[in-house]
Amino acid sequence: MRKIIIAGNWKMHKTQSESLEFLQAFLPHLEDTPETREIVLCVPFTSLHFMSKNLHGSRVKLGAQNIHWAEQGAFTGEVSGAMLTEIGINYVIVGHSERRQYFGETDETVNSRLLATQKHGLTPILCVGESKAQRDAGETENIIINQLQKALVNVDQNNLVIAYEPIWAIGTGDTCEATEANRVIAIIRSQLSNKNVTIQYGGSVNPKNVDEIMAQSDIDGALVGGASLEASSFSRLVNYNLI
Ligand code: PGA
Repeated sequence: MRKIIIAGNWKMHKTQSESLEFLQAFLPHLEDTPETREIVLCVPFTSLHFMSKNLHGSRVKLGAQNIHWAEQGAFTGEVSGAMLTEIGINYVIVGHSERRQYFGETDETVNSRLLATQKHGLTPILCVGESKAQRDAGETENIIINQLQKALVNVDQNNLVIAYEPIWAIGTGDTCEATEANRVIAIIRSQLSNKNVTIQYGGSVNPKNVDEIMAQSDIDGALVGGASLEASSFSRLVNYNLI
């Protein structure tokens, strides 16, 4: 059975007080959300501990947006696995295209961060995806397969989530057609030894397109940026097909 995971990626949004405001508005909407759906919020480091103290036993799981591969050391601005496990989180986004594009993340550092995540008992959400130019050049499949091959060296596929996030669809409102996302995700699955890995789609998921996206045979969830920032829209996403 593949687990369904709807995850919000807040990126660099929300102070602690704004995070709390979100939680108070969001949690009541989970009353009728089927237990089979895992709900995750990947929030800034500054809000993680605060959020974990304010979840009050709710079913929401927390995720970080980055992790360093070293146990500790002179790595200004980075966060270690031990620092994350101590505050009670479950997931770490690894290799988001914004990290690759703006912070020099490579397939090799992505691999190191995946291994560190698993070593600390956390579940990585590995992001892969092609740019518009790569898609237009017909390179989508090759790019994705290459990213997977390099990222997954020695990675345990029994503790892994993958998000297919076409870069041109992120934050643009230009969602990938649900059937096309499904096609690429099936290709991703064909590359895996564990066929039960949860594979999400990410890129301009919103209350209007979520039902169609989640109806696809190979799509097991969504990684959501913009539409996860408001309790009203994120609650619609986690309750897809219900309201
Ligand atoms: P978006 O971001 O939903 O705002 O397009 C998705 C992501 O970057 O994970």
